[in-house]
This record gives sequence, C-alpha cells and structure tokens, in this order.
Amino acid sequence: MSLTFRQVGPCFAAEASGLDITKPITPAQADQIHAAMNEYAVVVFREQPLTDETQMAFTLSLGPIEPPVTTNLRNKDQLRISTNFADVSNLDENNKPFTRDDRRRLFGIGNRLWHSDSSFKVIPAKYSLLHARTVPSKGGDTEFADMRAAYDALDDETKAEIEDLVCEHSQLYSRRLIGFTNFTDEERERMKPVLQRLVRVHPDTGRKSLYLASHAGEIVGWPTPEAMLLLSDLTFHATQREFVYKHQWRKGDLVIWDNRRTMHRARPFPSHEPRDVRRTTLAGEGPTVAQQAA
Ligand code: OGA
Ligand code: MN
Repeated sequence: MSLTFRQVGPCFAAEASGLDITKPITPAQADQIHAAMNEYAVVVFREQPLTDETQMAFTLSLGPIEPPVTTNLRNKDQLRISTNFADVSNLDENNKPFTRDDRRRLFGIGNRLWHSDSSFKVIPAKYSLLHARTVPSKGGDTEFADMRAAYDALDDETKAEIEDLVCEHSQLYSRRLIGFTNFTDEERERMKPVLQRLVRVHPDTGRKSLYLASHAGEIVGWPTPEAMLLLSDLTFHATQREFVYKHQWRKGDLVIWDNRRTMHRARPFPSHEPRDVRRTTLAGEGPTVAQQAA
C-alpha cells in the first residue's frame, strides 16, 4: 500500500491513507508527509493505535520537538504524562475529569478560542500532532482555519496596512478574553508577552499567512482598544466557514497541523466525560521578529 492524501477541507486539510504510523517510517515517507503539510497544512491519520512511545517516535521522524515548557496550570506533582507532551486532556493526575470550576480546567478551555500553538513563545511551534486516546460521546471537535487563504482574500489596502505590524502574544491575553484573570505572580512572570509579526512568510512555500491567535492582545505602537478591534476583525474574517475544516474525532486519530499557516480551536463537550488527547509539538525554525530571548 502506498501513502496517499485526499483533500477533506474547503481549501486545505487532507486525510492520509496507506501508512501505519505505529511503525517506524522511512525518510522518503517523512518527506511525503512534509510535502503534504506544505500543500494542505492539516493532515489526518485515522484510527492509529499509538502509545506515548510510538507517538513520540513518529513525531521525531518528522523533526526535533519543542523544548518542554509548562504552558498549563498543572503543578509538577499533578502531571499525568511526560512533559515532552502537552496534556490537552480534561483529566487530573488520577485520570478523573476536572471538576467544572477547577482552575486547571478553566485555563485549559481557553483552547476553545482560536489560536496557534506556542505563539506566546519567542520561537513559536512548527507542527502540532494531536492524538485521541479517549473521545467523549458527543462534541469535542477541533476546528482549523486556513490563514493563508484568509490572507489571500484580504483587500490590497488591508494587506498594506498590516504588512509590517508586530503583535504582543501572551496566554494572559487569551485568558483575559474569557474573563480568566486569576493568576499568581509566578504565572504572570512566566507568561510575559513576546513579539510576533502579524503577517508571516512560510519558509518552505514562500506564501504569506495571517499570524493571528487569541494570545495576541496588543499591536506595538497602537492603542489597546484599536489593536484588539483590528485583531478581532481579522479573526472574524479568517474564521469564516469557507476557510474552516472541522475534525470530528474517532479514537486513535492523529491530526497534524502547521501552526505557521493555521489557527485551531477546540469545541465543547460534556464536562464530566473524559477526553484524553495528547500533543507532541515540533520546534519552529526561529522567531518571527528579532527580540530578546524570554
Ligand atoms: C492543542 C489544542 C484542541 C482540542 O492540542 O493545541 O488546542 O480540540 N487542542 O483539544
Ligand atoms: Mn492548541
């Protein structure tokens, strides 16, 4: 069987078939996946029974991972899985769903805002690989928006206005949007804003994308309300249905997305049901704008 890709989204996103990713892959197969990522930006592998070990092996066959950095509110003694993974589940250290008002849950559901992973880090992420171990009985879809198509669809005046803008990104800004402001001083220090260009060029394809995320809360040199309104207008534009692919999870699905060209968001599901999804993340190639290391 050979590896093939079939487009499943409106202008991007493909489903792969003909490859068992629980087994080691060849460099040629890795190249094919990178080529598909450059074409489609989101690639779905259906029903692959990966373990932490095989998910990590597959991830490393596509490139180096991001250094592990805490990006949630779990304390060290509350970890379920290795810090080389992002624990995107709603589960506590005993594998029980968080209670509805647990602050780890309330911070975590900030994932329901449109975002791009690690845009709040000086070197933002390349690909994310999210694997579904347990899925809820309903809801819990993940939506993806094609920020290259969204950029292309802007009028020339807007493209010129935003070309050189630089935004500040922080998890403090995304959580502010949903009224979560209950941070310790240590967390505020850890979540200090970083700079990202609003328009970025993809290193492999040379194509421009809008680089938006709900983590973007300021535009350098702009008054805050005006910045937030422009970012909100651009986000509405970029997340119209014509630019969105919705992934309905089956147990075992692995979805890979290119954070440099897409945004994504989680959708709600019954809070008492377990949803165990685990993410590995490939390191980005560098900052989008020069700045002091965090
Ligand atoms: C992520 C993420 C969305 C989801 O893993 O980075 O935002 O649906 N996940 O869990
Ligand atoms: Mn995410």
